[in-house]
Amino acid sequence: MESSSLTERHRFAEAERDALYKTVFNRRDVRGQFLPTTVPDEVLARVLYAAHHAPSVGFMQPWNFLVIRSQQKKQQVHQLFSKANKEAVELFDKDKQKTYKNLKLEGILESPINLCITCDRTRTGKPVLGRTHMKTMDLYSSVCAVQNLWLAARTEGLGVGWVSIMHEDELKATLGIPEHVVPIAYLCIGYVEHFKDKPELETKGWLPRMEISDLVNFEEWEGSAQSSDDQELLSTLAEMSDFPTGFPVR
Ligand SMILES: Cc1cc2nc3c(=O)[nH]c(=O)nc-3n(C[C@H](O)[C@H](O)[C@H](O)COP(=O)(O)O)c2cc1C
Repeated sequence: MESSSLTERHRFAEAERDALYKTVFNRRDVRGQFLPTTVPDEVLARVLYAAHHAPSVGFMQPWNFLVIRSQQKKQQVHQLFSKANKEAVELFDKDKQKTYKNLKLEGILESPINLCITCDRTRTGKPVLGRTHMKTMDLYSSVCAVQNLWLAARTEGLGVGWVSIMHEDELKATLGIPEHVVPIAYLCIGYVEHFKDKPELETKGWLPRMEISDLVNFEEWEGSAQSSDDQELLSTLAEMSDFPTGFPVR
């Protein structure tokens, strides 16, 4: 079979492919625009299935999904955030503190569903295929589940906000998470009034998006372009700099 037909064979139709890029480039971290509207179980089930079909080291599937709906539990977690956020602001230079205080960094109480995605480090016994040498791979597997859910949620019109400003041990105690399980992501989930076009940290002047060409290296750490192929990739990246903005939500 010709190699061109082999590359064509497995490709998704253009509209399907574009739907994925549209999802990727329009996903946002949401903390401020949640609506109280109930999320139907079948919608929540779809995004949970997406999370559960993430890749995992050794097919370990180390995740659990703690669904939190009660206002009482949300209040407890919100208190953990408030305490940690006061500590956090002090860690930045004085000029950044003002911007920091203007950022809304969680939507715990306003979002109808909070979801804690965890990693059970003991799930399939001690040696885990693929985690034998890099011990953090199980943690990264649970992060893959988070990203699957985050993208699936965007297609459903659901906002997701990741809250990490709290002490891990306090979150574990509040949710009754055992010693061998790591809370990976505490997520606020719900329908939203709108999705922002850009990260709030970008528009509010916290940090700009970096140039991808400054992040791509060749053959070794900080290695510059070695060959004409490398140069061409850098040129293509520069020419395609508006690719991420080519999938607007109408
Ligand atoms: C591991 C992780 C932890 C995060 N923790 C927080 C957080 O505690 N509060 C917050 O407002 N955003 C948090 N975020 C969201 C980031 O600020 C956000 O992803 C980034 O600014 C880019 O914006 P975008 O997700 O809308 O593209 C977190 C994101 C990740 C991946």
